[in-house]
Amino acid sequence: MAPSYSYSKLSLVMSLMVVTVAMTNLKADAQFLRLVSINGVLFCSANGSVTGSPTPVFINATVQLQCVPGTVVSTSVTNGSGAFSFLLNPLQLLLSTLLGTCRLRVATPLTACNATLSPTGVLTSALQLSGNIIAGLVNITQLVPSGFHLVNNI
Ligand SMILES: *[C@@H]1O[C@H](CO)[C@@H](O)[C@H](O)[C@H]1NC(C)=O
Ligand SMILES: *[C@@H]1O[C@H](CO)[C@@H](O)[C@H](O)[C@H]1NC(C)=O
Ligand SMILES: *[C@@H]1O[C@H](CO)[C@@H](O)[C@H](O)[C@H]1NC(C)=O
Ligand SMILES: *[C@@H]1O[C@H](CO)[C@@H](O)[C@H](O)[C@H]1NC(C)=O
Ligand SMILES: *[C@@H]1O[C@H](CO)[C@@H](O)[C@H](O)[C@H]1NC(C)=O
Repeated sequence: MAPSYSYSKLSLVMSLMVVTVAMTNLKADAQFLRLVSINGVLFCSANGSVTGSPTPVFINATVQLQCVPGTVVSTSVTNGSGAFSFLLNPLQLLLSTLLGTCRLRVATPLTACNATLSPTGVLTSALQLSGNIIAGLVNITQLVPSGFHLVNNI
């Protein structure tokens, strides 16, 4: 029975070696996990950007990501610093789509932060590449708004 036991043990060791080699290959073949982030700061002004004079940030504004008009892919709410952010899986939303047809749309009217601003216009912006960072095993492609402007709410 001893040889049989040894054989099983050898077989087990060999199986483990195969698994280890397979995992090593997997690790070597694996690309970085890819993510796309969109970050920006929204200001309380007619175009959502800094103006000549000190401009307050637009707090608690709902920022939507739309790639087909009227269809919200993801939503972010600006924090106390006016900052919003999205983290996306590029396998679900291609970078070319994000840079091509996707738009940021501010659903909260500007009057929420300044009563003298437009009650009906909607701030919108396309996206542009800002860089790439490697965080551990994650490769994050960073996008930023290319510039908000006001459009008629239709
Ligand atoms: C936004 O408006 C301000 C003041 O009118 C102007 O200085 C600034 O260049 C505009 N920014 C953009 C991104 O259009
Ligand atoms: C933003 O929302 C938080 C939570 O609802 C609220 O406490 C805060 O007063 C709001 N701030 C502004 C400037 O609207
Ligand atoms: C808002 O979010 C930005 C980016 O994550 C962060 O740097 C900032 O500290 C936040 N501000 C507040 C008031 O939470
Ligand atoms: C509100 O917007 C007007 C321009 O429409 C600007 O003159 C005024 O300074 C803004 N108020 C605040 C508190 O930012
Ligand atoms: C990270 O992804 C970008 C494409 O978004 C690619 O150009 C770059 O080579 C990648 N970096 C690494 C270290 O894989």
